[in-house]
Amino acid sequence: MTGFSADWLALREPHDARARNPAVLNAVVASLKGYPSIRIVDLACGTGSTLRVLAPQFPTGQHWRLVDNDLSLLARAAAMAPPAGGTFTTAPLDLNRDLEAALDGPIDLLTTSALLDLVSEAWLDRLVVETLARSIAIYAALSYDGRIEISPSHSLDAAIVAAVNAHQRRDKGFGPALGPMAASAAIARFESLGYSVVHGAADWVIGPQDREIQLEVFAGWASAAREIGDLPLADTVQWLTFRRDEIAAGCSSLRVGHVDIFARPIGTR
Ligand SMILES: C[S@@+](CC[C@H](N)C(=O)[O-])C[C@H]1O[C@@H](n2cnc3c(N)ncnc32)[C@H](O)[C@@H]1O
Repeated sequence: MTGFSADWLALREPHDARARNPAVLNAVVASLKGYPSIRIVDLACGTGSTLRVLAPQFPTGQHWRLVDNDLSLLARAAAMAPPAGGTFTTAPLDLNRDLEAALDGPIDLLTTSALLDLVSEAWLDRLVVETLARSIAIYAALSYDGRIEISPSHSLDAAIVAAVNAHQRRDKGFGPALGPMAASAAIARFESLGYSVVHGAADWVIGPQDREIQLEVFAGWASAAREIGDLPLADTVQWLTFRRDEIAAGCSSLRVGHVDIFARPIGTR
């Protein structure tokens, strides 16, 4: 599995759904109570996981625009059933180039998940400005925040995590990425500009039975460490071998820190 393949997104979807912070999600749902219909734009929708998790909790008259630049992911999203009593359309757009086009027309709520850690400070500023200019609320879920706990521990964990976090700051198509700084940067910006922000931890809690996602995550981290190049290759191999042995023995678990944010203009519900 590479990058944002459909297989990887499917593997992480149930963990993302479980991780979402309930207080933040409740605040989003409460803010929409009483709306006969809502218009939502989901930025970087992938195969549509945000719609799948939110639709059952939203008012029935919900109308989504799903935006992504990956046509194959968007095709999978287009194939899903519409929400009960609602509709969705897909929009192939490069959000780095065409954010403003993605936000065209009336919007009641902007959603995104696992996007903010990919974007640059300049792009986040652009998103904040565009959101404020339109006075829209935004629910940005599942931004990785740099916290990783692995059990059992290994002497190379800290070096691997440092490499992962350095890799997270590399350009992911929006300029140098905010990576683990994304959530705190977004919270600070929205608060300083007068938005009310509810936020909270939305960590993946992955147990010994979740072997497949652990194999993918650890392989991804080893390849990030190899690309960063601060660690001798033999150390990375030793670490990955240890991790795979622990998974096979049913003894491996991990927590990966994420943050959910709901920011809305003060004075709206
Ligand atoms: C980590 S995935 C998250 C997908 C989905 N939100 C989810 O939670 O399953 C990041 C998504 O960002 C999309 N993406 C990355 N760069 C993009 C860009 N420049 N314009 C639009 N979408 C982009 C990818 O195609 C991918 O679907």
